[in-house]
Amino acid sequence: MSPSTLTVTDNRTNRTYTFPIEDGTVRAMDFRGIKTSEDDFGLMMYDPAFMNTASCRSDITYIDGDRGILEYRGYPIDQLAQRCTYLEISYLILFGELPTASELNHWVYEITHHTMLHETMKKFMEGFRYDAHPMSMMISSVAALATVYPHAHEVHDPANRLLQIKRLIAKMPSIAAMSYRHSLGFPYVYPDNDLSYTENFMNMLWRMVEPKYAANPVLARALEVLFILHMDHEQNCSTSTMRMVGSALTNPYLCVASAAAALAGPLHGGANEEVTRMLDEIGSIDNVPAYIRNVKDGCCKLMGFGHRVYKNFDPRAKLIKQIAEDVFGVTGRNPKLDIALELERIALQDDYFVSRKLYPNVDFYSGLIYQTIGFKPEMFTVLFTIPRTVGWLAQWQEMINDSEQKIARPRQIYTGPRSRLVVPLAEREQNSGTMNQPVAL
Ligand code: ACO
Repeated sequence: MSPSTLTVTDNRTNRTYTFPIEDGTVRAMDFRGIKTSEDDFGLMMYDPAFMNTASCRSDITYIDGDRGILEYRGYPIDQLAQRCTYLEISYLILFGELPTASELNHWVYEITHHTMLHETMKKFMEGFRYDAHPMSMMISSVAALATVYPHAHEVHDPANRLLQIKRLIAKMPSIAAMSYRHSLGFPYVYPDNDLSYTENFMNMLWRMVEPKYAANPVLARALEVLFILHMDHEQNCSTSTMRMVGSALTNPYLCVASAAAALAGPLHGGANEEVTRMLDEIGSIDNVPAYIRNVKDGCCKLMGFGHRVYKNFDPRAKLIKQIAEDVFGVTGRNPKLDIALELERIALQDDYFVSRKLYPNVDFYSGLIYQTIGFKPEMFTVLFTIPRTVGWLAQWQEMINDSEQKIARPRQIYTGPRSRLVVPLAEREQNSGTMNQPVAL
């Protein structure tokens, strides 16, 4: 028998089954053939939160969580961050190879010439309350772009897909900047095609009456490297959402809005905003030991710590610490940095965190840098969304082209009652567990 097989015995029937093992996985559908009788549905795999389920094959991002390795298309993240520009890497992630000089020129031209938003977007934006969260405005606005580009739903047409990919990568900074300016009551700023991707973003955020915006080169490069570090991270919550919604052949603007909604959660991309709030709450280094005690007692989580995949260190967090030095060299040190460093120092020696393999993740230091550059905490996840859009689109495209993929549809284990009789309304008595029960306040 081939060594690359798995043999299981069903003790209910004493029957033995042998399945191939390929790439360290067995196919869940092979188990469907394990039945106790002809009309048995067959065995299913139960995996809440997809802790041990590979949902696709992918060529895009490689992560080795135990060794702290992250590669895009086989290139280590540190080399990419040091040697390449954001648009160069977006090309790599989308097309699989680093561009030649002429391919890059063409790509930069294309993205630069899709940064304008349709004027209706301004009207959508104006409909939001002055204090609306920028992330909610961004999610709603990108969804609204589906009304501007209804033909985008023709997802089996490669040229059409590429056009939407260019538009989305180009327009996300414009939407992000618009939501930021809206929250401040400032007029929107149009893109400037002379500037690089991040410089133009800074222009749309911060230009006031000056005729030409001049970005600080250190801050522009820091923002660019932060964007590079956030571009893709294989099958995380938001990317899986992108693939799942996309599997229904939904318009890609709606897919990106769905993925961004997943990213907004505090356990995912929303964690960077929460880290800043946590550091504010801690207030000073003296309060760090008490805060750590609270975390260990289960009162709260140490935000920006822990990761489903990285169990040694997050390579992005290491690179971000270096960027922090560059940024603080220009802006001065963020006073919260000392609290963050002390939290990290204590946590990394404490058995609670060490035994659970909890290390600083990408969100632990990014918020401090963003804040020092001049962003409000509400903008942090918006900043994450801009580059992650590239990863979502690459994964979406890969999913569409994958002949093994179909509409995503997990199974469930039904645990509720069956075959009940409907009692007429007048005869029903109050049940326990309904919304009429008093709510504990
Ligand atoms: N602070 C304190 N304890 C934690 C933390 C934390 N940040 N993270 C995990 N733990 C504990 C859990 O309580 C659990 O303890 P137990 O075994 O005693 O029950 C153990 O560590 C394992 O944690 P899980 O929740 O099972 O780990 P999971 O892989 O499901 O969660 C997650 C990963 C969501 C990132 C989690 O570590 C977390 O909530 N971190 C804080 C939020 C955060 O920073 N999210 C950003 C992640 S990076 C990103 O999405 C871009």
